[in-house]
Amino acid sequence: MTSVKKIGLFTSGSDSPGMNAAIRAVVRTAIFYEIEIAGIRRGFEGMINGDIYTMDTKSVSNIIQRGGTMLKTGRSEQFKTAEGRNLAYQQLKKNGINALIALGGNGTLKGVKEFGDEYPDIAIIGVPCTIDNDLRGSDFTIGYDTAINTVIEAVDKIRETAESHDRLFIVEVMGRDSGMIALRTGMGVGAEAIMVPETKSDINALFDRLERGRKDKTSKIVMVAEGDEPGGAFEIGKAIMKRFPHYDTRVSILGHIQRGGKPTCMDRVLASQLGVAAVEALKNGHSGEMVGLIHNDIAFTPFGQSVKHHHEVNAEYIRIVEMLSL
Ligand code: F6P
Repeated sequence: MTSVKKIGLFTSGSDSPGMNAAIRAVVRTAIFYEIEIAGIRRGFEGMINGDIYTMDTKSVSNIIQRGGTMLKTGRSEQFKTAEGRNLAYQQLKKNGINALIALGGNGTLKGVKEFGDEYPDIAIIGVPCTIDNDLRGSDFTIGYDTAINTVIEAVDKIRETAESHDRLFIVEVMGRDSGMIALRTGMGVGAEAIMVPETKSDINALFDRLERGRKDKTSKIVMVAEGDEPGGAFEIGKAIMKRFPHYDTRVSILGHIQRGGKPTCMDRVLASQLGVAAVEALKNGHSGEMVGLIHNDIAFTPFGQSVKHHHEVNAEYIRIVEMLSL
């Protein structure tokens, strides 16, 4: 086992609130153990271009409370090629980096898995940062708690105007392949129905549900994850308007506000725990794994397993929503 001399730290893919808190935790833990730490800007793209700089305790001052990522992020087409990955490897060697900590979601973990298989002399640990909460190996991902709180704040406001106008709203939340945001926030806002990509959505079942609802109910909220197969909120909205022309229907897409904002305390704490664990994992010889928290314990999951399996939709959530939103 080669000892970790210098860690390269980067954020990649979509940003998520709490990434900065994780950066702070990684940098300060590395310094605590007297391991050199370098920031790589703009994810894989910065690795290829050698956009790498030494970080110290002060470089991460006053960031724990900020959304976004001070290291910037992006998606790299070049890193998907063997040539691009080789350029990245050369840059790491040139900078004396022999370990990486990657903060990101699905795409990031796929990228480091491929890279780690090709260049096993670079030890790599992944930290789950995505608002989607769709990675196997951690009960929650960093950013999810902030995103769902942003959503319920927004939808509570939508409910007030819906109630005043006797309207039905179809609210679309993020989650191209994952309904985790829609599922939890749907219960949190008392939605009348939830539609997620993990289950086959039946538009007729939605119609039945809306029809069966209490007749004197004046506002209705249907929460839809953007990846839901009938085609997202606008398509569902069109179908509802056609089937129920007497409903005053509106569509609202919450979009990227879900990705920004001050991280909640839960996200800051999770980011701090996982950031520390990532550095300690490298120190203890771990590589090729994502660090997560399962039932409040630090857990390691090989990259291949964490990206292949989505969290399953908890049918109990749907049952509760349907039972309570009479
Ligand atoms: O993966 C996080 C996520 O927010 C998804 O829920 C969403 O589909 C995607 O990123 C949007 O990405 P972009 O910022 O490129 O529009």
